[in-house]
Amino acid sequence: MRILVPGGAGYIGSHIVRELIDAGDLVVIIDNLETGHREAVHPKAKFYQGDIRNRDFVDRVLDQEKIEAVIHFAANSLVGESMVNPLKYYDNNLYGTKVLLESMVAHGVDKIVFSSTAATYGEPESIPILETDRTEPTNPYGETKLAMEKMMKWTGVAHGLRYVALRYFNACGAHESGELGEAHNPETHLIPLILQVPNGQRKAISIYGEDYHTKDGTCVRDYIHVTDLAQAHILAVKYLMEGGESNVFNLGNGVGFTVKEVIETARRVTGHPIPAEIAPRRGGDPARLIASSEKAQRVLGWKPEHGDLEEIIASAWKWHQAHPNGY
Ligand code: UFG
Repeated sequence: MRILVPGGAGYIGSHIVRELIDAGDLVVIIDNLETGHREAVHPKAKFYQGDIRNRDFVDRVLDQEKIEAVIHFAANSLVGESMVNPLKYYDNNLYGTKVLLESMVAHGVDKIVFSSTAATYGEPESIPILETDRTEPTNPYGETKLAMEKMMKWTGVAHGLRYVALRYFNACGAHESGELGEAHNPETHLIPLILQVPNGQRKAISIYGEDYHTKDGTCVRDYIHVTDLAQAHILAVKYLMEGGESNVFNLGNGVGFTVKEVIETARRVTGHPIPAEIAPRRGGDPARLIASSEKAQRVLGWKPEHGDLEEIIASAWKWHQAHPNGY
């Protein structure tokens, strides 16, 4: 198949591109390299550097390439940044997706899979979280992702486009080859920050709050390996190709780990004492986020295979040791 991957030079996008190419698909990447990395672009993918907000640019790519489906990752994704600069998120995530969809409709490309997020739910009404639960985002990042889902829904009603929104929980880990991994600047995610301590780049890890109503007082998250996420995208494209209707799926392991458990596991994996210090709560952090992925397992036939936290952290550690400053 010929698949367009906007955002294919980013953390999650680059892992999906790798799986697609390994499966024999033809991949066309577009990326403005604002947060993506030139080194993460697969050598066998066709690469166009440019911005999805530029309609002429997107049209030119779709004129030249015969695209059958789109897997869309081109978005900003930092919760904290979205709180201080919400309009950046409305511009890139929403306006960018609007331009991409317009161009897809004009070119008769009618299938899209895209990265949504657990942040669409906001404070969960119950655990584990189901796709039918209330969606009340507590930050502009989640709000724009939810609006992207709605934009696709109504574009589908009007123009026959079908979409799959994949609501990721906490994406983590790195490719088994050690060639692809997480490289954000600034880094805000727990596992890469923890690993900066044994890598000699940070003295201690801060624990944001230990007075939550959880077993050890620290926040609980559902950590899902990026390779498992990649498999879900491949299954979602197949689902749309086989005529599946527009749909939304949670992607997580269904198991929660506290911040302290993640740090303890990283100590075992790295053999480093990793000092930790208690810091104030970070605004907007729900106490517990755990997915029910029963629907993705039932409808897509998805089965996460790298749920073991030690394995997840070991894969991230292999990447960060070899690439302490990213690509
Ligand atoms: N944390 C710390 N110390 C740190 C960094 C994080 O204690 O130095 C804690 C956070 O407070 C949180 C947990 O570790 O409880 C995980 O934090 P991350 O920043 O790694 O991930 P989030 O759960 O905040 O965010 C993730 C994705 C977002 C997505 C969100 C959905 O990164 O894109 O889940 O709620 F929106």
